[in-house]
Amino acid sequence: MLNKIHAYLEKKSFSLLLGIIAVVSIGGLIEIAPLFYVDNTIEEVEGMRPYTPLELAGRNIYVREGCYVCHSQMVRPLRDEVERYGHYSLAAESMYDRPFQWGSKRTGPDLARLGGKYSDEWHKLHMEDPRAVVPESIMPPYKFLSERALDYENMQAHLATNKALGVPYTDEMVEKAVSDVTTQLDEFADDYDGFQVRYPGALMREFDGDPDHVTEMDALIAYMQMIGTLVDFEEYQAEKDENLR
Ligand code: HEC
Repeated sequence: MLNKIHAYLEKKSFSLLLGIIAVVSIGGLIEIAPLFYVDNTIEEVEGMRPYTPLELAGRNIYVREGCYVCHSQMVRPLRDEVERYGHYSLAAESMYDRPFQWGSKRTGPDLARLGGKYSDEWHKLHMEDPRAVVPESIMPPYKFLSERALDYENMQAHLATNKALGVPYTDEMVEKAVSDVTTQLDEFADDYDGFQVRYPGALMREFDGDPDHVTEMDALIAYMQMIGTLVDFEEYQAEKDENLR
């Protein structure tokens, strides 16, 4: 009997195709269907917060300029990567990224643990003229970012869109999106405390060293200085070790 079916399927390629589709679908369903019934496939970790409006604007510039063409933002859990860049990336670290920037092309180094690695001045110099700080660099210069005014009047819409997609921005955050851009650039801002409640731990300072203008460079540096810094890995690792015991 089985022999007959086998002989039939080997001769009739269309029937074989239907058979393959049926078998593969069963496998697919078993893998995919459960995902629709769990609330969360991402491990929750402490410290994650949505991007501030200024960081989000910087991230938009990162995407606009195609930095992902040469840079990935995901440290793989392999020894050489972890020793070079730091703790491997967690899924939760990109849960507010729309779209994500994991990437696979590394003409330049991975940037997932970039925050705090260099000073603001270094970043400004490097973006304006990469070879001024890294003589052998092949990265293109982005000097115009220091000269271009940041268009942030529309940040409310950007936050609202992210909110619609599931990023937990509050109504207050959306309402203050435009003023929060300038608040973050002023370490003596009137609304300093309010801002820190909305975005705990966010860096507040003049990022491009030019207090008279809000530039695209301000936004990009604000973004670069916080990439990969939200999760406190000493605590995360301690908790993991505790659970293993
Ligand atoms: C053509 C490929 C290319 C593009 C596009 C590119 N980079 Fe780079 N980037 C590199 C290379 C190569 C290096 C390593 C040499 C250096 O530090 O300049 C680098 C280094 C860096 C570094 C230093 C990283 C570290 O850990 O030392 C940062 C930060 C950076 N790039 C940011 C950016 C940003 C932001 C953009 C988009 C505005 C961008 N890059 C676009 C190739 C690129």
